Amino acid sequence: MTPPAACAGPVDFCGVELAHPIINASGTFDAIAARRAFGDALLENFPFAAFVSKTVTVAPRQGNPPPRLWELPAGLMNSIGLPNKGLDGYLAHDLPELARLPVPLIVNVMGFSRDEVSRLVTAFAERDEVAALELNVSCPNVETGLVMGADPAEVARLLSAVRPLTGKPLIVKLTPNASDVPAVAVAAAREGASAVSLINTIRGMAVHPRTGEPWLGGATGGVSGPAVRAIALAQVRSVADAVDIPVIGMGGVTDGRHAHDLIGAGATLVAVGTESFRDPSAGGRIASELALAADASHHSGRGLAKL
Ligand SMILES: Cc1cc2nc3c(=O)[nH]c(=O)nc-3n(C[C@H](O)[C@H](O)[C@H](O)COP(=O)(O)O)c2cc1C
Repeated sequence: MTPPAACAGPVDFCGVELAHPIINASGTFDAIAARRAFGDALLENFPFAAFVSKTVTVAPRQGNPPPRLWELPAGLMNSIGLPNKGLDGYLAHDLPELARLPVPLIVNVMGFSRDEVSRLVTAFAERDEVAALELNVSCPNVETGLVMGADPAEVARLLSAVRPLTGKPLIVKLTPNASDVPAVAVAAAREGASAVSLINTIRGMAVHPRTGEPWLGGATGGVSGPAVRAIALAQVRSVADAVDIPVIGMGGVTDGRHAHDLIGAGATLVAVGTESFRDPSAGGRIASELALAADASHHSGRGLAKL
């Protein structure tokens, strides 16, 4: 479980050069809104080594009805429902703005069938602005009713359809709502996934205190933040032990020590999600803390005590 001392420095991730191992988790940092709020200061001091877009679907989506958030004692539950402008809207409006960020761009896509995912992968395959693609497989395939990322055979079929469509790195974002997450990772790796990322949110529910009905407009939601950190750590370790491709670890990271722990569990990169809502500069802070921890543990073997 001891990470290499150099774990906080530059990283070659599937051929993409990153300044450090901290990136954002999809859907938790709106770089376009942040640019409006913070101006060029954001570009000069961008908190992440790569930027991962929120999920893009073929058709535009409104997202789920409100309420969309429920605060937990140690985290957040959301039922945002992946609102986005759709592929054409993303290509026309978001991609040109995101291409101006000073870091490589990873586009996260989700389809409700293999054909839809193929369409998304094909569209981004030819865009030089896009360094890599992340496949969000946490949704049901309308043709089979199975959640693509919950079933190794579904993921294998998806990868065999989309892998030939692009030479760009393909990251499969695993769902923790599966009975055997390492088996899904192994199936993805066998069919040519370049990397896997985990964990996505864990399904949860809250009840309206007066009506007794589900609080969230989508009835259930996804739990994230510190509440899921121990689960993320265990899943990252079991997946990293099962595959030879790089793993992006995420789930409840709020400081450098948590990032260090995930790297120790086998992650190559660490993504910061919910913490960025509390502190938009969290990515940069966590990268610095990780560098201190790695440096101190290299020199004294007691670096983590400093965090
Ligand atoms: C408000 C919110 C929106 C999210 N949107 C997406 C999304 O669009 N696509 C996706 O793959 N994951 C999405 N996620 C999941 C995160 O990328 C991440 O996997 C999860 O939140 C665990 O990390 P964290 O505990 O650091 O937040 C979202 C999470 C939150 C809290």
